[in-house]
Amino acid sequence: MSHKKQTSRLKGFYQLDLEERHQELLERGYLTPEELGAFLPESGLPLETADHMIENVVGVFSLPLGIALNFQINGVDRLVPMVLEEPSVVAGASFMARLAREGGGFSASCTGSIMIGQLQILDLKDLSLARDQILAHKEDLLGGLEDLDPILRDLGGGPKDLEVREIPHSAIGPFLVLHLLMDVRDAMGANVVNTACEFLAPAVEELTGGRVHLRILSNLADRRLASARCTIPTQSLAFEEYSGEGVRDGIIEAWAFADADPYRAATHNKGIMNGIDAVLLATGNDWRAVEAGAHAYAARYGFYRSLSTWAVDREGNLQGELELPLAVGTVGGATRVHPGVNAALKLMGVESASQLAEIVASVGLAQNLAALRALATDGIQRGHMRLHARQVAVTAGAAGDLVNKLAALLIEENEIRVDRAREILGTWQEGKE
Ligand code: MEV
Repeated sequence: MSHKKQTSRLKGFYQLDLEERHQELLERGYLTPEELGAFLPESGLPLETADHMIENVVGVFSLPLGIALNFQINGVDRLVPMVLEEPSVVAGASFMARLAREGGGFSASCTGSIMIGQLQILDLKDLSLARDQILAHKEDLLGGLEDLDPILRDLGGGPKDLEVREIPHSAIGPFLVLHLLMDVRDAMGANVVNTACEFLAPAVEELTGGRVHLRILSNLADRRLASARCTIPTQSLAFEEYSGEGVRDGIIEAWAFADADPYRAATHNKGIMNGIDAVLLATGNDWRAVEAGAHAYAARYGFYRSLSTWAVDREGNLQGELELPLAVGTVGGATRVHPGVNAALKLMGVESASQLAEIVASVGLAQNLAALRALATDGIQRGHMRLHARQVAVTAGAAGDLVNKLAALLIEENEIRVDRAREILGTWQEGKE
């Protein structure tokens, strides 16, 4: 079934109960009952599979999986699975995707699937000479790696180039760094790049007379950038007493703060990563790798700044853009073994790592907009605490229908605290006795 014909506008989805949401996904053909089962605690990741994934396994650990709605990316509607513990994030992404839709949705792109592997070359007498030797033998060195991964080679991937960088100053003096550029296609690429780096090292030592020390992938994957853009019609930003222009300008002022101050940029970028990490988790990707690359990229000009930019376009609309390294895979890693990952990729209708990266970047941009819009208007707590109220009710001991009833009362009283929730529950229980 083609997802192109399916919509991500599932109106009223959030008002349905769990059973009804399942029904909706099945009836619309997004998932089969078996795939849906991969998201349920009783039929999700089998313990035996988990036992093969890491060491000393004693169990599996669950987190909520929600679906962000309304996303339209490069003209295609996508339902986006998000795994995280924080309320407001899925609602925020879905709401902003609806606003972005009014401006034509997200347009997203990728620069390719080139990863960088690093070789640290020490004990060289003449750095420039070693550099020239490596570059003069580039073709031979790359040729030696050609057959290392025949499957990747047949897919058009594999080693593509070598670059040499001089590190003039370090705690141990000057040294050379060799960058191996590899096209990893739909894989995240860590394994294939690390294997190639280790394989390449002896030939580099022989050629230069130096000592190759570290041989490892770089998470600053700046040859594998993904970017997303959206335009929000100014009038769509208006709500309650806030004018569209006021909200638009407030968002740009908030962005300017993050772009100029690392203390604010850290929080601003954390909001972007709220969306990004949640999709990475749902799709079994290495979110620590993406986090590391994102923050290093945010500091690429020598100081740490915003990963996104927000501005007014010629028509006066709000225009946003996000660009960051996104080393994500749809093959290898946890993809094949975790049933939830396969179901998540199916739900999105993703066919390649670059498509996944484009979705992830769009969600990051939507999440950033959600945070900036809230911060520039009511503040973050109003919406957040309303969603948090249900968690508070559960923590206080409410179950079943009482959760929503208690949450509604806490919101009405504007007292969203566990002690108050316990007090109310106590009076309800006394009333029953
Ligand atoms: C909270 O998880 C994320 C925010 O702090 C992001 C931001 O401040 O931009 C709301």
